[in-house]
Amino acid sequence: MTYPTHRPRRLRDNAVLRDLIRETTLGPSDLIYPVFIVPGRGVRNPIAALPRQFHYSPDEAGKMASSFWKKGGKALLLFGIPEKKDETGTSGADPEGPVQLAVKEIKDKAPELLVVTDVCLCEYTSHGQCGVFSRGRVLNDPTLELLSAQALSHVRAGCDMVAPSDMMDGRVRVIRGALDSQGFSHVPLMSYSVKYASAFYGPFREAAQSAPREGNRRGYQMDPANIREAVTEAELDISEGADIIMVKPAGPYLDVLREIRHFTGRPLAAFQVSGEYAMLALAGAAGAIDYKEAALESLLGIKRAGADMILSYLAPEFLEW
Ligand code: PBG
Ligand code: ZN
Repeated sequence: MTYPTHRPRRLRDNAVLRDLIRETTLGPSDLIYPVFIVPGRGVRNPIAALPRQFHYSPDEAGKMASSFWKKGGKALLLFGIPEKKDETGTSGADPEGPVQLAVKEIKDKAPELLVVTDVCLCEYTSHGQCGVFSRGRVLNDPTLELLSAQALSHVRAGCDMVAPSDMMDGRVRVIRGALDSQGFSHVPLMSYSVKYASAFYGPFREAAQSAPREGNRRGYQMDPANIREAVTEAELDISEGADIIMVKPAGPYLDVLREIRHFTGRPLAAFQVSGEYAMLALAGAAGAIDYKEAALESLLGIKRAGADMILSYLAPEFLEW
């Protein structure tokens, strides 16, 4: 099996041959585009921490969604920034909240576009933690009710799928139960099953104004050093009824993605998070890399590692490319 019998370069000689032997492809239907929704009307403000990304009010989100769909985009993930925050993040379940209103606008303007909503408390709590916070700790079980209420309000507004990102134990089971009992057993659930306590969420927290006021998220998000634990998390979420399993971040965790790919045949998502996107954007702007080529390569790597779908801020640019 060695030279001169074998010459892998023979099949790299021209573009047609290279296309024939290509193992991984990327298309618009592989991508879900994360967007930030704010209250108000007529708002489309650039986000300083994330070049080329915007805060949209629900009406503007509707316009963006319809042009995204016309360009071939398939799916959005919505994050909300509310008018008011409180101790328990109650505004997250407000039927008139920015995400709920945006879901309606988007389904009105682009009915076939898939609308996924991020379910978590950190954008809605005054302390910025992803759950009920008491004496320096996030309380698991009291948080589950609040998450269910938020998920239900998203589904009532008409979203196509909910995506809990809080990392509380048992939330998939409790949210699934709440949806089923209210007549929404047909609505799928994408779980942020394997979510690490990562520095790569920095630009997101600025964009969503959701950085914890004190402390960090290591009491519930995973230790970046662990991979066996990732399998346990995926296993639990599958047993609780998650339809899609997510690994997050993506780029620095391709080994984890691969491990989960081998562990389950379930659909697998990977989130190329804000910090990954910002690094590409800033390195591109500085002339350090060819932005488009590097961005495409980053997505391909995530797909090759085993992702069926990628949540990425690159989605609209990908459609242009
Ligand atoms: C909320 C949430 C976060 C992200 C998705 N959902 C932030 C966090 O957990 O701190 C990160 C997304 C990104 O960085 O692009 N729990
Ligand atoms: Zn959160």
